[in-house]
Amino acid sequence: MRYKSQSVAYWYFALALILFGLQIVFGLLSATKYLGPDPFLNIMPFDVTKTIHTNLLIVWLLTGFMGATYWMVSDESRSEIYSVKLAYIQLALWAVMGVTAVIGYFFRYGTGNKFLEQPLPHKIVIVVVMLMFLYNIGMTIKRSGRFTTTEGVLLLGLGSSAVLYLPALLHYENYIVSIFYRWWTIHLWVEGVWEMIQASFLAYLLIRLSGADREVMEKWLYVIVGLVFIAGILGTAHHYYWIGVPAYWLPLGGFFSALEPLALLGMAMYAYYAMRRSGVNHPNTLALHWTLGSAVFGLFGAGLLGLAHTFPDINKWTHGTLITAMHGHAAFFGAYAMIVMAMISYAMPSMTRDSDEQGSSIGYWAFWLQVSGMFGMTLSFATAGIGQVYLERVLGIGYLDVQLKIQVHFVMLIACASLFAIGVGLFIYDFFRHAPRLDAAGVEAGATPLGVAPASGGRAG
Ligand code: HEM
Ligand code: HEM
Ligand SMILES: [Fe+2]
Repeated sequence: MRYKSQSVAYWYFALALILFGLQIVFGLLSATKYLGPDPFLNIMPFDVTKTIHTNLLIVWLLTGFMGATYWMVSDESRSEIYSVKLAYIQLALWAVMGVTAVIGYFFRYGTGNKFLEQPLPHKIVIVVVMLMFLYNIGMTIKRSGRFTTTEGVLLLGLGSSAVLYLPALLHYENYIVSIFYRWWTIHLWVEGVWEMIQASFLAYLLIRLSGADREVMEKWLYVIVGLVFIAGILGTAHHYYWIGVPAYWLPLGGFFSALEPLALLGMAMYAYYAMRRSGVNHPNTLALHWTLGSAVFGLFGAGLLGLAHTFPDINKWTHGTLITAMHGHAAFFGAYAMIVMAMISYAMPSMTRDSDEQGSSIGYWAFWLQVSGMFGMTLSFATAGIGQVYLERVLGIGYLDVQLKIQVHFVMLIACASLFAIGVGLFIYDFFRHAPRLDAAGVEAGATPLGVAPASGGRAG
């Protein structure tokens, strides 16, 4: 750790991992309900556990993004964070918002709008927290006088995420209008501006871990941002097929969303070229696993499995089935959960005491159990989903009868999810078993690239 104030990132990561653990508990609870009988039916039925599961996902990922940003901006701009106090107030407000929102969902206190269930007071806190965060980051960069392209793309992603949350604050009586604008937040987040956040963390990590040339990595960033804009914005239309808007959205959605995997392909390619050209330049190979893993699993889950159901001719059968859950899991895990875990693994050796520079064997178990568990879960959702689509949508058998016929896939889902959950447990254990380091004395032997990697030729932009 080169700067004392980077230790704020530790507390963001700590909160993110606690919420991640809770998210998995509610995922398992939701999945067991497929098999029944459900002893919790009257206390927390499926809609409640699923809402908590998906909301915790969004909140822990954003917490991870914030922590990773404080870490990275300090490093890139070679500066202490502008206001450590503000960063802690922000974290406290954010934690209270997240926890009270989850408690509220037990009592169905929420908007009922998928992923955006947060009640209005919570939404206002989210906006306030984002403003505090952007101000603090912006002032850190301004005061340092050093602004890199990698940071620029990160700020573009974070700033746009805040702006795109604004439509979620409004309430629409008309259901079609409400659904129409919901995607401005949800789709444009995950298939737009969050990809910029992922791309900039990837660039930062690849520059430091592989010693790849900064000039080259940052040129790739421009290409990715361009592709995200070209495909992602009109790609929103792949959610407009069946919601009651005019039919011209069908070809628009099919065409532009089919281009969306290009940005994800670009990220996987730049990770590959970084490794081929520069090799490994840093002892932390565990962080490298998560970094490359995110590029590859993101391409698989979001790019390939997104493409699999994005054309209207296919989506008319698969819409809203377990095929969607298949893609949602693999995409969110690959692109966003893995990149947050990459940033945590990279920062770990210098933000905690006595942890291994290469990553511990527990850390590798956590990686492989999560990757294989999530791969198995994706296949289980896929096989269940194919069965569901055929029986329910092609043969016209009723929803609940079909759910009974595809139970075997749910057993496989829970088996793979259990492996995955052990992997998450190990990751969390590996993080918390080391005490945090609160001073800036963390530039130990072998940790040189924590500053600017020798081969990177870091420059002020
Ligand atoms: C990292 C990027 C991505 C993430 C995290 C992601 C996640 C998700 C999630 C959670 C849903 C369900 C949303 C809901 O019903 O509320 C969804 C739906 C969808 N995604 Fe993605 N996605 C990503 C990228 C893509 C890409 C690149 C494509 C196309 C090539 C795509 C195609 C679709 C389609 C067509 C649906 C609608 C499914 C339906 O009709 O039920 N996604 N995505
Ligand atoms: C032990 C691990 C997990 C289990 C058992 C699990 C289970 C489930 C279940 C049963 C649902 C409801 C699907 C439906 O509507 O029928 C769900 C939804 C969802 N989960 Fe998970 N989950 C787990 C981990 C994760 C992780 C790690 C992520 C992301 C990184 C994730 C992201 C999502 C998303 C985005 C949805 C909404 C999908 C949609 O609406 O189609 N889950 N999960
Ligand atoms: Fe989308």
